[in-house]
Parts: sequence; C-alpha cells; structure tokens
Amino acid sequence: MELITTVTAMVALQAQAPRPLGLVPTMGFLHDGHISLVRRARQENSTVVTSIFVNPTQFGPQEDLANYPRSTERDLEALEKEGVDIVFMPSTGEMYPAGFETHVDPGDIAIPLEGEARPGHLIGVATIVTKLFTITRPNHAYFGQKDGQQARVIQHINTDLNLGVTVVICPTVRESDGLAMSSRNSYLNNAERKSATILYRALLHAKELFNQGERDTSNIRMAMINLIEAEPTAYIDYVSIANLETLREIKRIDQTTMISLAVRIGEARLIDNLIISEMTE
Ligand code: PAJ
Repeated sequence: MELITTVTAMVALQAQAPRPLGLVPTMGFLHDGHISLVRRARQENSTVVTSIFVNPTQFGPQEDLANYPRSTERDLEALEKEGVDIVFMPSTGEMYPAGFETHVDPGDIAIPLEGEARPGHLIGVATIVTKLFTITRPNHAYFGQKDGQQARVIQHINTDLNLGVTVVICPTVRESDGLAMSSRNSYLNNAERKSATILYRALLHAKELFNQGERDTSNIRMAMINLIEAEPTAYIDYVSIANLETLREIKRIDQTTMISLAVRIGEARLIDNLIISEMTE
C-alpha cells in the first residue's frame, strides 16, 4: 500500500495505475460503514484508492472541525488489511493552497435539508469531491446512502459537469441496535448512545405506517416527530419526506421517496434516512 500526500504524486500514480480504478473518499476515523465501501471497491477494481482528508470547507464556523475524531494509524492498518493499493492523505495546504477560490455549487438539490441546516456544507463537499475526482480520475467512486443528500449531490455534479465517473451508492451499515455507523457516534456518552437509536426507530415506524397503507406524509411526519420528542435528550433539526431525485418535500408517497432526519443528541448531530417506494416491503 502506498501512502501519497501530494497532488502531483497522486496524479502521476493514477495515470499509470491498472484500470478500472475505484475511489473511496473519506474523512478518516474509519468504521465498518467506510470499510463496506472499500470492500465493494476492492471487488470491482484493479486499483483501489482511499482518500483521508478532513475537508475544512464543508464545516461551518460553529461546527466540529477542530474536534473531528482522527485515528490515522488505525485507519492505515485497516486499509492495508483490506488490500487498498493507494491511500491519498493530503494536507489542507495541499488541497487548498494560497489563492484557492473556486467552488462547486450543486444548485437546488443542495438547498434543503443539510443545505439549510449547514449553509455551505454541500458546496464544500461538492468542491472537494470534484477535486478528488480530477486528481485521482476514478472509473468508479463509492459513497454511502447514510449521507443520502450528499450521495444525490455527488451524482448530480458528476452528471452536470460530465465528470465521467460511475458513482456507486452503497447501503447504510448499522450497529446491531440499528444506529447508523458514524464517526460522530464517538461524541455520545452511554445514555446518549441509547437515545441515539431513536433515529432508526422513527424511520422504521414511518416504514411500518407506509406498509399499513398510510401515504399522507403529514401523518407520517407527525408520528415520527411525536416519537422523537418523547425521547428526552433528542432535539429535532428536521424530519423530511422528499422525492429521492429532487429532494423536494412531497404530500403523498406515490414516488420513490427518501425519509430523512437530523437529530441532535448531546454534542452530536446525527443523520439517517430510508428510501421507500411502492416496491418497499
Ligand atoms: P465520511 O463521513 O468519512 O464518510 C465517507 C463515506 O462513508 C461517505 O460516502 C459516507 O456516506 C460513507 N459512510 C459513512 N457512514 C456510513 C455507514 N454507516 N454506512 C455506509 N456508508 C457510510 O462523507 C464524508 O466523509 C465526506 O463528506 C466526503 C465525501 C469524504 C467529502 O469530504
């Protein structure tokens, strides 16, 4: 496994690497969710590149950039074990040198949900992912459904800017009690960790109502809100029931739908989602 820290070296290496090349972008502090993307990439590519870069432009001024958890040594060991070929781990100055000022704005799809709660966040994500795509020139790039809006934003910029990458969205990996794995779960104390299952419980409740025939989104949304509000340490940021492609809120579930939510528990702001459609069991 090669550890690359400069853009020049990464560009040179990918240009002669066996193809197809699969890219798995991460911010490190790897867990089984990240590893599931790496495994999928390993199955489908001759060369696997994983990037580790805590991207400052996707963090708001009041957010957790300075405290974002890191575990570089453990991450490198895990990636080596998974048979990753190249780890791209640039410094902030390498990705954002003096004079950097171009940003990628994905448009309407980045306005609601995370875009509203975290202004500039998805522009930061779109910008860094575009840079990672142009530096590593992947054939395939792997992202998690866990960050549902992010996944759609990346598909959208890939199409709009003709980046030419096959974007693969992989299922959310969960703890045994349903909590979606996330680096930010490390912020939770024991009591908060128990409360944190409320996100998935609310999603499952919504799915159950859908399975019982409920299609009116205001009823489903209200049932989810009531459930979450009964959890003393949980504060709702948003509960959304939106068209999966446009991420616009819908009144009735008669299309492929993403139910998503953001909930604050202690110091952690957690997100999760489920996709449902008439095919959902
Ligand atoms: P990060 O939060 O480190 O996540 C890296 C990738 O792992 C993302 O595609 C994310 O959706 C996926 N992932 C996280 N938790 C997951 C889970 N429980 N199951 C499946 N996949 C999961 O997302 C980012 O970093 C950044 O925004 C990035 C895309 C790297 C751009 O900076």
